[in-house]
Amino acid sequence: MKTIAILNQKGGVGKTTLTINLAYALKQDGYKVLIVDSDPQGSARDWNNETEGAIVPVVGLDRASLATDIKAVTNGYDFVIIDGAPQLSSHMAAAVKCADTVLIPVKPSSLDLWASSDLVAIIKQRQEIGADLHAAFIISQAINNTNLANEVTEVLKEYVLPIFSARIVNRISYPASISNGKTVFHTQDKKAQDEINLIKKELLEC
Ligand SMILES: Nc1ncnc2c1ncn2[C@@H]1O[C@H](COP(=O)(O)OP(=O)(O)O)[C@@H](O)[C@H]1O
Ligand SMILES: [Mg+2]
Repeated sequence: MKTIAILNQKGGVGKTTLTINLAYALKQDGYKVLIVDSDPQGSARDWNNETEGAIVPVVGLDRASLATDIKAVTNGYDFVIIDGAPQLSSHMAAAVKCADTVLIPVKPSSLDLWASSDLVAIIKQRQEIGADLHAAFIISQAINNTNLANEVTEVLKEYVLPIFSARIVNRISYPASISNGKTVFHTQDKKAQDEINLIKKELLEC
């Protein structure tokens, strides 16, 4: 069983969007996948409720005791994906503690990058004490045909964490599918499906 935590203190960067779509992409490969909603706002649970749990199972664990609580629910799964909570640094540290891989979605803006420095520090601390922890940035909500994402890639290099070469572009199919409890794989948006599959591929390689 591998635990992937999708984290960033900043709200609105695309954590829940990536969690849901990546979870479904892995499920399509035949893996048993569980989403852990660590956000007290419960967005992933709301999404799941739209289809009464028909897409990927979601369980809510939104206390700072996440690292302990999670042990009771993950049996039998190949992948557990933790959808991170904004603001709550105690939750974030707990999620890092139980993760094999942390994925950090960032919008292509310097303001959003600076907001991720606390998380990067927590990850570095774990790595320095010898934890087998992988972590990478993923550019999220990129606007096609702008250089902004490339500029951000330059800034991100200073954080000395890898950056996925696959990015998520701003596409209407993400909010549109999520609002009725689905994923981009339930739409005709092939480009969105391709970019999520590329992220899945990079994840499986690392
Ligand atoms: N790639 C995208 N294209 C268009 N809208 C997006 C994309 N990713 C996220 N959004 C929208 O941005 C908002 C925040 O995304 P969300 O996944 O809820 O972020 P977080 O979980 O980090 O708070 C939502 O309204 C979501 O639908
Ligand atoms: Mg969210």
